[in-house]
Amino acid sequence: MKVTVVGAGAVGASCAEYIAIKDFASEVVILDIKEGYAEGKAMDLMQTASLMGFDTKISGSTNDYAKTADSHIAVITSGIPRKPGMTREELIGINAGIVKTVSSNLLKHSPNVIIIVVSNPMDTMTYLVHKTTGIPKNRIIGMGGALDSARFKYRLAEAMESPISDIDGMVIGGHSDTGMVPLTSHATRNSIRVSEFLSEDRLQQVADDTKVGGATLTKLLGTSAWYAPGAAVSSMVQAIACDQKKMFPCSTMLDGEYGLKDICIGVPVILGKNGIEKIIDIPLSDAEKAKMKESAEGVSKTNGLLEL
Ligand code: 2OP
Repeated sequence: MKVTVVGAGAVGASCAEYIAIKDFASEVVILDIKEGYAEGKAMDLMQTASLMGFDTKISGSTNDYAKTADSHIAVITSGIPRKPGMTREELIGINAGIVKTVSSNLLKHSPNVIIIVVSNPMDTMTYLVHKTTGIPKNRIIGMGGALDSARFKYRLAEAMESPISDIDGMVIGGHSDTGMVPLTSHATRNSIRVSEFLSEDRLQQVADDTKVGGATLTKLLGTSAWYAPGAAVSSMVQAIACDQKKMFPCSTMLDGEYGLKDICIGVPVILGKNGIEKIIDIPLSDAEKAKMKESAEGVSKTNGLLEL
């Protein structure tokens, strides 16, 4: 199982590290345009192999896509991250060109590759890959909801002073500071609805904190987060690589599901060896339906900025 990670920055390197430590892939290729950067990150990671106990072979390449040939899965993290005070949508001008070039280069050497998009604004970048590559929609997956759901669970556990392992929760909708839809009505603590433990106001605060989870970290770090994004996308890679049939909220092209068409936005899907194997239609409250509709309007507006 060969995986390519494009972008040797913090998110890409974290993703490669977590994939290696989980040891389900035979090979991970990290590619970056900065001379020697991917090679250095790969060598540094390989020098943890005897300490972390993995046999995955990690190599680096400076913009030589031949080295990515025959990849089963490719993760696109390349592009600029946001600075404090920026929205993800403000990155579109630079990142759209990068994502278009990267996806085209990947497909030249791995025509059957499953592409996972991380670069922001992620829902629009995922839509861009659909429109510019034309590959089957089950092979184009946007990573946002897995990360947002992890932040949602973190905030729920914090509010209930419970171990995160007791918490289940999902965030759907757009991966944006205003467009996320934390499903507070579905979240549970060990199968008990969280509304049994938290007041409506406290639950609203959890949802609000979740939505700005990325911006909160960007303000603290001076740049976008990387550990949780890397961990989130590595879990999706593992679900595909190991055919786990695992459910994740992922950005996927909708064709009527949730009342939406011709848009990529976060909904629950089953991930397996074929990528997106099924879109799961879950019951939403009227309030959640309204938030999803509003979120989709925001994503469509950003899509309109693309020069397709
Ligand atoms: C985040 O929310 C980078 O969009 C990513 O941290």
